Amino acid sequence: MAVPTELKRGLRLPVIASPMFIVSNPDLVIAQCTSGVIGSFPSLNARPQARLGEWLDRIQAALADHDARHPDRPSAPFAVNLIVHRSNDRLAADLEACVAHKVPLVITSLGAQVEVNQAIHSYGGLVFHDVINQRFAHKAIEKGADGLILVAAGAGGHAGVQSPFALVQETRAWFDGPIALSGAIATGRSILAARAMGADFAYVGSAFIATEEANAPEAYKQMIVEGSAEDILYSNLFTGVHGNYLRPSIAAAGFDPDNLPTSDPSKMDFASSAGDAKAWRDIWGAGQGIGGVDDIVPAAELVARLAREYEAARADLLR
Ligand SMILES: Cc1cc2nc3c(=O)[nH]c(=O)nc-3n(C[C@H](O)[C@H](O)[C@H](O)COP(=O)(O)O)c2cc1C
Repeated sequence: MAVPTELKRGLRLPVIASPMFIVSNPDLVIAQCTSGVIGSFPSLNARPQARLGEWLDRIQAALADHDARHPDRPSAPFAVNLIVHRSNDRLAADLEACVAHKVPLVITSLGAQVEVNQAIHSYGGLVFHDVINQRFAHKAIEKGADGLILVAAGAGGHAGVQSPFALVQETRAWFDGPIALSGAIATGRSILAARAMGADFAYVGSAFIATEEANAPEAYKQMIVEGSAEDILYSNLFTGVHGNYLRPSIAAAGFDPDNLPTSDPSKMDFASSAGDAKAWRDIWGAGQGIGGVDDIVPAAELVARLAREYEAARADLLR
């Protein structure tokens, strides 16, 4: 299994902190990278579009400053998520900003485009594409992605329905490039399990919502701390694409979580509204792994916990 050397620099744990709509911001990304995991954010979080360049400047300056002060433990690379879907009218401008800033890793989702991959490759950047099944995985690699993010059942936000075992096993049968496994990973032991299954990285999202840096209301963070897998509901009502959301937030927005209608997928709009409740702002996304999250901490502390648990799990297996 091949992890490109550019991505190994500064890595304390084989983890990509996944991009989360609204939640991921420069403070969170800087904290993730300086604690030794790959940090990321969706370009759409920088609003208006002109702010994306400012965010990238800020992240790059903070990481360079950290590296100058701590040459013994340099920061990990960061990634930007581009939504490659017809509803995203910012794609060209956001791609241009990524190229201008030579973003080390670009995570593409909801579509795969040869031109986007070529633009990132033009300066030596890498592209990982996120997929939920083999059909999309093959398409992504055919179109030039360097790595795959396998989004399994139980992942926060837009998620697949396949078991992580099945997804990794079938992908590894034909793909020996870098793989990140996404879905319900919130402990060091689970990170090690992802590696054992054949993934190079664990892709961790929801656990980072319950951090001080995350751009989420306190009630959302608290719901992550208090919730467990039973509190997660899979529905396509809110954006037209199936995703996992916190049941209590659905109830608080005035819906009956046990009797939700389904939506028309042809009307898909990434940030669409359902009734008065704006998807993502009022209907809170989270994956099934939140039972592993017990408190709201600085992101560096979460990474330190994951690292301790990862080492303990490794030692445990060797006994
Ligand atoms: C609130 C929330 C927002 C998300 N937004 C995005 C996004 O904008 N782009 C994307 O590629 N993935 C997004 N995801 C999916 C994550 O990148 C990742 O696949 C998922 O969080 C991993 O599962 P976990 O939350 O169980 O750790 C989002 C997930 C959550 C929980």
